[in-house]
Parts: sequence; C-alpha cells; structure tokens
Amino acid sequence: MADGATAATPYGPSGQPADDASVNGDPGRATAQHAANVRAIDGRRFRSILGRFATGVVAITAIDPATGAPTGLAANSFTSVSLEPALVSFCVAHTSTTWPRLRAAERHCVNILSAPQREVCLQFAAKGADKFAGLEWGESPGGGPVIDGALAWLECSVEAEYPAGDHMIVVARVHHLDRHHDGEPLIFYKGAYGRFQG
Ligand SMILES: Cc1cc2nc3c(=O)[nH]c(=O)nc-3n(C[C@H](O)[C@H](O)[C@H](O)COP(=O)(O)O)c2cc1C
Repeated sequence: MADGATAATPYGPSGQPADDASVNGDPGRATAQHAANVRAIDGRRFRSILGRFATGVVAITAIDPATGAPTGLAANSFTSVSLEPALVSFCVAHTSTTWPRLRAAERHCVNILSAPQREVCLQFAAKGADKFAGLEWGESPGGGPVIDGALAWLECSVEAEYPAGDHMIVVARVHHLDRHHDGEPLIFYKGAYGRFQG
C-alpha cells in the first residue's frame, strides 16, 4: 500500500500472536524477543509484510460542501463490517487533506475500482491534484459522486470514527449501493497493481 494504510493483524497462522516466544516456556526470553521484534518493525518492513495481503482499491468521493466540487481519495483499507445494520469501514491517515472535505459532506460514495482504472487510482492518490480532472461521473441517490467505470458503489454516511495510531478508523453506514460496470477488479499487491485471474 502506498502509505501503509491498512490495519495489520498481529496473529500468526495458528491464531496465536505470531512473534510470541513464550511458547518455549521461557517468559524472560519471550520479553526480550518481543522487545527485539517491536524494535525491528520499521516502516519499510511493515509495508513489505503488509503488502503481501492483496486488496482491492476504492475511491472514496463526495461533493465538498465548501466548493460544490467533487473530490476524493484512494484507499485499500476498505472492508465490510456488518449486514444488520449495513456498515463498512476504511482507515484514513491523519495527514489526509481530502478526508476533512469528504467528512464535511452528508454523504460520500465508496467506488470499487476496476482493473482499467489504475490511472484513476493514481489521480485520487495524488496530493493537491484535481481528483476529478478528465473523469466522467454521475450521482448516487443522495448526491455522492459515482465514477464511470467503477465496478460498484456504496453511498454512505459516517457512523463512527476511532483514532488508531497515525490513522482514523472510519465506520460508515451504507444507505444505497449498486453494481455499476462489469469488469475485473483493480488489485493492489506488494506495492503494485495487478488483475484477478479466477
Ligand atoms: C493503492 C493505494 C491505497 C491507499 N490506501 C489508503 C488508505 O487506505 N487510507 C489512506 O488514508 N490513504 C490511502 N492511500 C493514500 C491516499 O489515496 C492519498 O494519497 C492521500 O489521501 C492523498 O492526499 P490527500 O488526502 O491530502 O488528498 C492510498 C493510496 C494508494 C495509491
């Protein structure tokens, strides 16, 4: 992920903490091992390991109430949370200049990007850019921007926000959703874009 955005799971394949040395019955060694592991988690290693978790990519969009213009950001931390009520979540960096604009809108749209939308993703990830330059888009029932070529969209409102390190975990309530264009998803894996081959 370009900015180390998705949440990490601290668990290994067995469901136990992956780096827990106490399994050998030596608590002292476990503490030292844990301290060494914590020290070793630098940004490059964190991104490299988390990059092995393949994700889709979404563009989260809204009409900025201050300007009346559409804006958005790219995110791969999107996931479904609950069916009843319908909730999804994504994580947003505290450094995002676009999130406060999206947050100010009553409704936003999560656009699930398709494989041909790599350039669209890069445009939404660029700081300070006109995120919608050259893009065709329509509106969801509540007025969220729906990007042409996206596989599907979900119109949401912010339900809850939880500070989590350098990001905010945003839980969003889904009000409307639909499929849009047929096609393959945009896949993000090991810091590169690819396609799904079923
Ligand atoms: C594939 C990809 C995934 C990303 N995922 C996230 C994410 O989950 N959360 C986040 O805050 N930023 C994420 N980013 C970074 C933002 O899209 C973007 O760079 C940033 O929000 C742009 O800055 P701005 O918010 O100041 O406009 C991602 C970027 C890329 C290319």
